[in-house]
Amino acid sequence: MVQPFKAKIVNFPKKLDYQDKLIICKEYFYNVNNIPNDYVFTDLGSLSLNALSEEQYAGLFLGDEAYAGSENFINIKNTIKSIFNKNYVIPTHNFIGATHLIIKILYHTFNIKSILTTYHNYYLYKLSIYLNLNYKIFNIDNLVSYIKEIKEESNKFIFFEASNLIESLKTYQDFINLINSLELIKKEGFKLIGDFSSIFSSLYLFFKRLNNSFDYKDYKSKIIEFSSIFDLIIMDAEYDIMSSTGTLIFTNDFSLYELLTQYLVSFEGLHTYGGLAGRDMEVIYRGLIQAYDFEPSYNIYDYKYQEIKYLYDNVKNIGYKVSDLTNIHYFYIEIENPYSFNLLLFLSSQCRGLAVDNKLYFYLPSRRYQKANYDLIITALKELYVYKDKEYLKLTDISELSKDYSKLNYSIDFQVSKFDLIVGRNLPKVLEINPLDFVAYNFNGVEIISNKDKDYRLVKLEEAGYNTFLLDSKDVFIDLLTDSGTSAQSDEQFSAAIKYQAANAYNLLKQSIYEVFGFDYFIPTHQGRAAEHILSQTLIKKGQYVINNMYFTTTRFHQEYAGGIFVDLIVDEAYKPQSDYPFKGNLDVEKTREFVKKNYDKIAYICIENNVNMAGGQPVSMENIKKIKEICDEYSIPLVLDATRIAENAFFIKEREKGYQNKEIKEIIREMMGYIDAATISAKKDPLTNISGLILVRNPKWYNHMIQLTTLFEGSYFNGGLNNRDLAMLAFGLKEMTNYYYLKQRIEQVRYLGTLLKEKGIPIVEPIGGHAIYLNAKEFFKHIPQDNYPAQALAAYIYLYGGVRTMERGIVSAGRDPITKQNRHPELELVRITIPRRVYTNEHMEYVANVIFEVYQDRDKFSGLEIVYEPPFLRFFTAKFKPLKISKTTTT
Ligand code: F0G
Repeated sequence: MVQPFKAKIVNFPKKLDYQDKLIICKEYFYNVNNIPNDYVFTDLGSLSLNALSEEQYAGLFLGDEAYAGSENFINIKNTIKSIFNKNYVIPTHNFIGATHLIIKILYHTFNIKSILTTYHNYYLYKLSIYLNLNYKIFNIDNLVSYIKEIKEESNKFIFFEASNLIESLKTYQDFINLINSLELIKKEGFKLIGDFSSIFSSLYLFFKRLNNSFDYKDYKSKIIEFSSIFDLIIMDAEYDIMSSTGTLIFTNDFSLYELLTQYLVSFEGLHTYGGLAGRDMEVIYRGLIQAYDFEPSYNIYDYKYQEIKYLYDNVKNIGYKVSDLTNIHYFYIEIENPYSFNLLLFLSSQCRGLAVDNKLYFYLPSRRYQKANYDLIITALKELYVYKDKEYLKLTDISELSKDYSKLNYSIDFQVSKFDLIVGRNLPKVLEINPLDFVAYNFNGVEIISNKDKDYRLVKLEEAGYNTFLLDSKDVFIDLLTDSGTSAQSDEQFSAAIKYQAANAYNLLKQSIYEVFGFDYFIPTHQGRAAEHILSQTLIKKGQYVINNMYFTTTRFHQEYAGGIFVDLIVDEAYKPQSDYPFKGNLDVEKTREFVKKNYDKIAYICIENNVNMAGGQPVSMENIKKIKEICDEYSIPLVLDATRIAENAFFIKEREKGYQNKEIKEIIREMMGYIDAATISAKKDPLTNISGLILVRNPKWYNHMIQLTTLFEGSYFNGGLNNRDLAMLAFGLKEMTNYYYLKQRIEQVRYLGTLLKEKGIPIVEPIGGHAIYLNAKEFFKHIPQDNYPAQALAAYIYLYGGVRTMERGIVSAGRDPITKQNRHPELELVRITIPRRVYTNEHMEYVANVIFEVYQDRDKFSGLEIVYEPPFLRFFTAKFKPLKISKTTTT
């Protein structure tokens, strides 16, 4: 169950305590259907919460808000013509708006006395009550036999729903029979109105059922053929189109179009916008194209079918009476008191469905939720099973309209009805589930990703010279090259970007930095290495030592560039991939003391890197920092932190170090920073931005020197060359990175991947670090000598097997000795699988683990690589390779 999309924008639902939940329920008269969705964790009450695709989001800004003839409407019109071959298109603000118009013409022009439908639709039903019409549902199973019955009717319009019709079809012949039956009804003089909201997904899944090889051309021609039978088609854009609102009506019947537009201008808007903003129409237009023109091999419909099936099967297995699963967007459970039950669901798990009649509907917004969201609901439903028929509510108010409902055997209006708790009947003490233990954030916007086949990838891999840096990202399915600048942004970050487009964000950032780090002086830089440059130039004099815990490439470069001598005094455990030492990022205190004792007058500063990247994302303990600080104080040496991954380091301290279990992430960060004189940060990692960096400093003299260098290399010292948008996004990212539940979900996701790999026997660096899993390529490809680049080969074959992009961190990255020109042979020959923050789901991780396992099973088939092109420096970025011919000796 791997999503064909990844997160682009996330939002953080609020967790409420029990009392707050009760207060909110009371405020909305215990009708949980009406609680605002930002109080709900997994909200299965409406499809309007669909996450938009990046194309749709872009469309928001292409909205043409002209009153008449907007570009967006023309786009929709042309697309409807090309997909359905219908000439006249009417946009409406939503499904209710569309139904309203249609019923208006049926009622006023065609004088219908009853609504004839082959499926139950609540809005048709409500309108029929409002207009005092009969509401007749016919069974579609035997279409032809009821023709006689409906022939008696004066009404010649019948409503159909596409997914309902298509869902039961098993064979191609069934499809032909269906079309013939519909034609027969037409011949009797009836006009067919089709709800096509789920047409694409239904037809797609039908073709998949028929024969596993999906014929795109056939599918497209069937859409036209099927549409041609219907006189009027309605399409709710919240279904397959995955928009947040809007409905389209289309037809080739000019007289119907003309009648509808007369009502349209009175009830909706002008015929070229129909009650929608230009941007909403552009979202619909782009959604329509994506709904129709998808990747045939694996796409959102395959995924969503598996997604709803997962929830459906689990709910059914608990024992609930479920509806048939006729489409990919919703199903319901039958339940005696759904309003009471929805209340219990909300109080126990902060989730909800939609209570209507004697049903609780579960609408699954597209692309919004992860499997954990459904696990949360399933857990709650298990707990609540024994209460499923209990009634805790009494109706206090039904609308004027709904008073007539009893006539028709449907109880009450699901929107306007009000309730109160039944006095004396206490709500059950149901286990309260903490939703944050399941999920910390939901998806608001996504990027569509697609996977090509192995033959295609082989071509691309050869073009890229077996170097994953040289692949185009469009050819990558799951991109685990780096966690740098790849985070999904939160809704708050994006709204700040707009707010601060033309406003100064410096003070906002200053406040955030003070709150999170406790530093007064700071300088923004465009990214981490720029901060390292300025700090190194300020603090290092030629010939001075700089002590580090291992190295990061750019950090070391700038220390040496400033004339410093790089010294690595990390603990020995860092170089042992199998060691499970909990703080492999620590500096060796004894070695450091020894070194400082001997060289104290020649040391520029000691630099500690949080969650040491090159060691596998391994943390540094608070105790280690304290001890190093003591040495620094004794000899008056500054202590500098590379705080790029400080939040993840703080999480490990909370988890592993004695005395920190009950401390908040923020407190741990503040304590750590308390020992530090200056810090550099690549804010593209833990601080959750796509670009930016920071220098933090206490000493005003250093600060004054640094701001001069900043103006020389970066930009104004108030912004480091960044625009206000990015500063504002950083201000919010810094706060978000201290959210414990976000960090927990992040680190557990990395650990989940590591554990899956370990269980399959794949050699990885342990313990599993914060931002990445490192494969031990020396162990993985035991038969490939280091000079044949085992890690480079492994990264290449992981791409080949599954479209997953990772990075070599071994002999290629280490480069050549400048004097002997021979390959340097680093201890660690690794492949880094780096997990971007808030982007992928655990299902993506399962896919990655399976791909790597496939390579592992075939490991003896591969030889190493040889270099065909090598640049003079930083060769790992651009070198090209080709596979060695397999010889007998390398395959044993
Ligand atoms: N410090 C550490 C620990 C880093 O991991 C990085 C970048 C930097 C500094 C430099 O910051 O990229 O913003 O200029 N690491 C990236 C990575 C490139 O993929 O690990 P930058």
